[in-house]
Amino acid sequence: MSIKTGRAGGTAEVTIDNDNCNLCGACVKVCTGAPLHIEDRQVKVDQSIIFGCIACGLCVAVCPRDCITVTGRAMSPGDFFEIPPVEKRATIDQLKCLMLARRSTRNFKNRNIDKETIDRILDAASTAPMGIPPSDVEITIFNGKEKVQEFAKDITGLMYRSRWFFGPVMRTLLIPFFGKAFAELSKTFIYPISILFSVEREKGNDLLFYGAPLVIYFHTSAYSDPADPLIAATYAMLAAESMGIGTCMIGTVQIMHYSKKLKIKYGIAHSNRPGIAVIFGYPAIAFHKSIKRTFSRISYV
Ligand SMILES: Cc1cc2nc3c(=O)[nH]c(=O)nc-3n(C[C@H](O)[C@H](O)[C@H](O)COP(=O)(O)O)c2cc1C
Repeated sequence: MSIKTGRAGGTAEVTIDNDNCNLCGACVKVCTGAPLHIEDRQVKVDQSIIFGCIACGLCVAVCPRDCITVTGRAMSPGDFFEIPPVEKRATIDQLKCLMLARRSTRNFKNRNIDKETIDRILDAASTAPMGIPPSDVEITIFNGKEKVQEFAKDITGLMYRSRWFFGPVMRTLLIPFFGKAFAELSKTFIYPISILFSVEREKGNDLLFYGAPLVIYFHTSAYSDPADPLIAATYAMLAAESMGIGTCMIGTVQIMHYSKKLKIKYGIAHSNRPGIAVIFGYPAIAFHKSIKRTFSRISYV
C-alpha cells in the first residue's frame, strides 16, 4: 500500500531501460519501498510489493548506467546530478572543526542577511534526511528586524498569557498526567521565563530572539516524523556557521502551536506539528575557546 504524506499519495512511476541494464542488481538492493525485483533476467517494478515506489530516488542514484527514471511524489528526472568529488567534501577534521567553532550566538551585529545567503542556507538544509520522502518540512522566514520583532512580541505575549498553565496550581494538578519533570521544568524554567521575557521586553530587551536579524522556523505537517524539522534546522545551522553566520536554536517558539490566531497570522496550517526556530546573524562577539560537551549516557547493549 502506498504511503500517504502531507505532499504525496500513491506511488511514483518507475521506468527501467532494460536494454541498457546489465542486471548488476544494485537498484534492487537499495530499493526502500521494495517494488523493484529481478524476474526473468529483468529488473521489474511491482507497485503492490510493500509500499511500492515512495520516490526515495536511491535506485536512480545508484544505477551506474542511467537506466532508471522515477517520476511522481514530488520527484522528477531533473532532481539527479553528479555527487561532488571526494576532494571537495569536508573531512572529519574539517567537519569537527566547524562543529567545535560553533557556539550559540546571542549577540548580533547590526547587519542583515541577504536573500542569496538565506537561499544558500536553505539549499544546504534541504539535503537533510526525512522520515518518509518527500520532506514535509515547512519553512517560515522572518527576515529583517521589524518582522522578527513583531514575531517576538507575539510569542512573548502568548507566553505571558499562558503562564497560568505552568504556575503553582496547574503544575501540581498535572503531575499525574505529565510527570514530575514537567512540574520541575515548569517551576524552574518555563514559568519564570514566561514572565521574565515580557518584563524585559517592556524595557526594550529581546530575550527571545536576542535582536537577531533573521529567524527561520522549521515546522512540519502532521504526517511527518517530528524529528524532521529538527534535523533540517540542524543542517541549516551548520550551513550558516560555515559561512561565518552565528546561530542559535530557539525552542520556545513551539508555543505558537497552541494559538490558532498566531498560526493563521503566520500562515502555518492548523494541523502542523511544532518544530524549532533558528536565529541567524553576524556575530558581534567572538569566542576564543571551544567547549567540551558530553552526553548524559552512552551505553552499548
Ligand atoms: C532544542 C533546542 C532548543 C533551544 N532553545 C533555546 C532557546 O529558546 N533560547 C536560547 O537562548 N537558547 C536555546 N537553545 C540553545 C542552547 O541553550 C545551547 O545550545 C546550549 O546552551 C549549549 O550551548 P552551545 O550551543 O553554544 O553549545 C536551544 C538549543 C536546542 C538544541
